[in-house]
Amino acid sequence: MTTYRWNTTDFATGYDGAADIVHPRYVEIQDEILRLLALDNDTGAIVVDLGGGSGKLMERILERWPKAQGVVVDQSEPFLAIAERRLARFGERARCVLARLQGERDWRVPGSVGVIVSMSAIHHLEPVEKSALYQRCFDLLAPGGVLLNGDEVRPGVDAEYLATLSKWADHMRREMAGGAIPAAFHGALEGWIERNVTRFGHPKKSGDDCHETIETQLGYFRAAGFESADCPWRADLWAILRGTKG
Ligand SMILES: C[S@@+](CC[C@H](N)C(=O)[O-])C[C@H]1O[C@@H](n2cnc3c(N)ncnc32)[C@H](O)[C@@H]1O
Repeated sequence: MTTYRWNTTDFATGYDGAADIVHPRYVEIQDEILRLLALDNDTGAIVVDLGGGSGKLMERILERWPKAQGVVVDQSEPFLAIAERRLARFGERARCVLARLQGERDWRVPGSVGVIVSMSAIHHLEPVEKSALYQRCFDLLAPGGVLLNGDEVRPGVDAEYLATLSKWADHMRREMAGGAIPAAFHGALEGWIERNVTRFGHPKKSGDDCHETIETQLGYFRAAGFESADCPWRADLWAILRGTKG
């Protein structure tokens, strides 16, 4: 059986080092998620980051809200090893949980979860897995809780979808050629281009980039029970999807 590409140390180290170059909206989406979070400064909200990788978003959240507690959930040991080092300075306020979002192993946390965030992770789940995950998020959140997913989404029309993917592929190629991305990570990006652009339209399976439209995913949010479901930010292949539990 081949190793899932996110589970090698090279891939985790490469992504951790180059994420903000590979992903042209990486910092902007983090900024927006922080802006939309609007946590209370005085209460110790529990924030869960699904597919939180090496803990970069959680680090910013715990810095911004000194009473918040964070749980980073991810299926990759190499990514979580980096997250544990990055978040060690927050002591007991930060915890890392090795688990798949598909729920074979329970990632739910004790306590009242006020916020669930995620970035560039949930699109790896196929449709039925995504809708089941959004249901678990709804069930876990306390009343008034918020889910914010800053992720890759597809336009409804194929030609527009391919153009958006191709634009990102061109960006990756430029940054690789310019030397901004370590050579050890080039294979990962070439794999992304092969799967998404060269083989555009081929069937996707769980673990691939299973992009779905904003509307489809907001439909999953509503079906899960979220009273309010909207998209407060979008650009190119990315959007922030927000669900609020009444
Ligand atoms: C592109 S990285 C994003 C990491 C982090 N959220 C960030 O923005 O820097 C995708 C992450 O999703 C995780 N991931 C992918 N599929 C997953 C699954 N089914 N369950 C849990 N984590 C998953 C990977 O292990 C990886 O850490």
